[in-house]
Amino acid sequence: MRVQVATIGSSPSGLMLGQLLNQAGIDNVILEQRSKAHVLSRIRAGVLEQGTVELLERAGVAGRLHAEGLVHDGFDICVSGTRRRVDLASRGGVVVYGQTEVTRDLMEAREAAGAVTVYEAGEVSLEGFDGDTPSVRYRKDGATHQVRCDFIAGCDGFHGVSRKSVPDAAITSFERVYPFGWLGVLSETPPVSDELIYVHSPRGFALCSMRSPTLSRYYIQCTLAENVNEWPDERFWHELRTRLDPDTAAVLQTGPSIEKSIAPLRSFVAEPMRFGRLFLAGDAAHIVPPTGAKGLNLAASDIHYLSDALIEFHATGRSGALESYSRRALRRVWLAERFSWWMTHLLHHFPDNGPFGMKMQTAELEYLFSSSSAQASLAENYVGLPY
Ligand code: FAD
Ligand code: DHB
Repeated sequence: MRVQVATIGSSPSGLMLGQLLNQAGIDNVILEQRSKAHVLSRIRAGVLEQGTVELLERAGVAGRLHAEGLVHDGFDICVSGTRRRVDLASRGGVVVYGQTEVTRDLMEAREAAGAVTVYEAGEVSLEGFDGDTPSVRYRKDGATHQVRCDFIAGCDGFHGVSRKSVPDAAITSFERVYPFGWLGVLSETPPVSDELIYVHSPRGFALCSMRSPTLSRYYIQCTLAENVNEWPDERFWHELRTRLDPDTAAVLQTGPSIEKSIAPLRSFVAEPMRFGRLFLAGDAAHIVPPTGAKGLNLAASDIHYLSDALIEFHATGRSGALESYSRRALRRVWLAERFSWWMTHLLHHFPDNGPFGMKMQTAELEYLFSSSSAQASLAENYVGLPY
């Protein structure tokens, strides 16, 4: 097979890129190691920045998002049993619409356009991206296949093969692993509140989120030693209630979980994001702890820069935007890393914080709620910094 762009990963970033390239007449293939059903079963992000919504509009896949997505003009932070609101209205708000739904909309558009996605592509390997003739090999149905291309887009997440194909000497990684994870539950119950609630409590962080008026998503901070099987629903609901303020705990509606999983928290950036004809995007290049709701949105902003660069090259032969892709994307990545790191430190219980660290956290929260400038800064970052 020969295409202009071979993309690894039927991820939000890979599918968004594919859709924007299709619209520009650039042929592309997506190679995905898992099945379509598996990709659609993963419950992940829920909060979309305005920039992500605009990119999905440009890609022609925002119809259902506008019909079913919930516009949120604020969220609450609950500290010591008191809920306070952070206003987002003056900055346009965010949209609550699940990553699973974004993925489904993009897959449907891709199928309607007749573009090829190879699911269950095994042993994907990248070759020749440091020269002019890159290619990707994979195994499927007992045979090895080769895709020759002009460019490779590595959209295969943190554990993918793309970043690992780059020689160690050509890449620099920056990392912080946090000493806790998030235990998440999805349940077919009405959300406890119309808006999200981020909770700082002595027993640790909690988050009340949602997917729709009848589908709730809740998270609690847990240790890294935790096993999901040791968290029957009743234990989860009890622990969540103890972290909420009494009024919210009293109206929490519980029910059977339909998904339950633990995610570790990590900050990670690999620099640069371009190696010859290989371009990394999304979690393949960087991870943020989920506290700031930035992971999916950063994947989208990478694709904003990368799709523009590939389309400009295709239309004019000019490679300036391809050459500046890594620099432009990384600038925004580091700003979102800073915000996600800050919000994680603001709201979680850090076992090794010590008395001074805990006083600093209390002072930070005190400052946030006594300063409209501090709240404006939080809101500015939460809704998304400009591209
Ligand atoms: P990914 O979603 O990482 O997908 C990569 C794809 O590549 C997968 O389909 C995988 O199967 C495939 N792949 C991997 N290896 C290979 C290979 N060798 N060959 C072929 N294919 C391969 N972000 C937000 O913005 N807001 C939120 O509210 C938010 N909440 C989150 C909550 C949780 C619990 C978690 C875990 C994450 C959350 N995130 C959030 C982060 C967000 O989900 C990720 O940042 C986002 O999925 C990254 O998308 P991506 O396009 O980089 O690819
Ligand atoms: C969700 C996840 C987040 O990390 C976040 O900050 C807000 C919402 C969610 O899954 O709904």
